[in-house]
Amino acid sequence: MRETITLGGERRVGRIGYGAMRLTGDQLWGEYADHDSAVKLLRHAVDDGVTMIDTADVYGPHTNELLIREALHPYPEELVVATKGGFVRGGPDLSTIAAVGNPNYLRQSVRLSARRLGVDCIDLYYLHSGRAADAPFEEQVATLAELRRQGLIRHIGLSNVTVVQLSTATSIVGIAAVTAHYNLADRDEAPLLEAAASAGAVFVPWQPVSLAPPGIATNPHGSRAMRQVVQPIADRYGATIPQLALAWLLQRSPAVLPIPATTIPEHLDDNLAAQDLELDDRDVDTLDRLA
Ligand SMILES: NC(=O)c1ccc[n+]([C@@H]2O[C@H](COP(=O)([O-])OP(=O)(O)OC[C@H]3O[C@@H](n4cnc5c(N)ncnc54)[C@H](OP(=O)(O)O)[C@@H]3O)[C@@H](O)[C@H]2O)c1
Repeated sequence: MRETITLGGERRVGRIGYGAMRLTGDQLWGEYADHDSAVKLLRHAVDDGVTMIDTADVYGPHTNELLIREALHPYPEELVVATKGGFVRGGPDLSTIAAVGNPNYLRQSVRLSARRLGVDCIDLYYLHSGRAADAPFEEQVATLAELRRQGLIRHIGLSNVTVVQLSTATSIVGIAAVTAHYNLADRDEAPLLEAAASAGAVFVPWQPVSLAPPGIATNPHGSRAMRQVVQPIADRYGATIPQLALAWLLQRSPAVLPIPATTIPEHLDDNLAAQDLELDDRDVDTLDRLA
């Protein structure tokens, strides 16, 4: 049986989830062009053993949550659907995205995500950004704590926060998960990973197979220089570079739960199979020194 990880001290989930963000339109706006294959892909993910799906109200906006509901509701008991709130879009241009932390906005966002997902209580709800400047961070976290007390959220997560913000948040309420940009090519958030693990939170690297800077553009195969190092290692395990990137993340810390995105069923199968790769110490060491 494959390894699991415990979310919020009570919920066992598999160590590789699925990020649904790319099942949206151009620039993450509107509907995904091939609706039926998106529905099939989400069902395939769950049939294949995915127990954590990552979405957000701002993906689409709204279309991604609605697609997940259409494909998977009523949700299997073992499935955690994690969503996020705290970003708004000014239109199809992704650069219009802005963080909002107004408590009433967050209250409304949680209730509307629950409505779109078709649940009374959201399994895992992240504050999408630690950067909202329209309300104190403490107040935003306290608002999510209030919504949890009211039964609308089961577990609270934080997305794109600093180590100090994580510490502030844990003094207010238990934090079950922290998500940040972290992968083979970018380790800037290593201190956040350590802090999350110490706080008993699951650390969810986003863009886990992309070997490119954070953003909408991804590069699952890396630059030429990076490929020269990682391809021979991947070849030794009969693996692809994305599989190697995922296996390395899993061995990095038992608190890590990556959420790779894909629109291709075969890539989804490959990503889940990365759990079965065991990298030897020498290769882990080489990969550790890459970034
Ligand atoms: N909290 C946040 O602020 C935040 C920000 C960004 C993303 N996220 C979450 O993180 C998830 C993942 O991030 P991401 O989509 O940006 O990056 P990613 O998962 O690192 O990379 C996705 C890209 O890699 C390709 N890919 C995936 N598996 C592959 C494989 N086995 N072989 C070859 N190519 C593969 C996909 O293309 P194909 O479709 O061709 O496979 C896709 O273009 C998102 O879906 C979202 O849920 C969160």
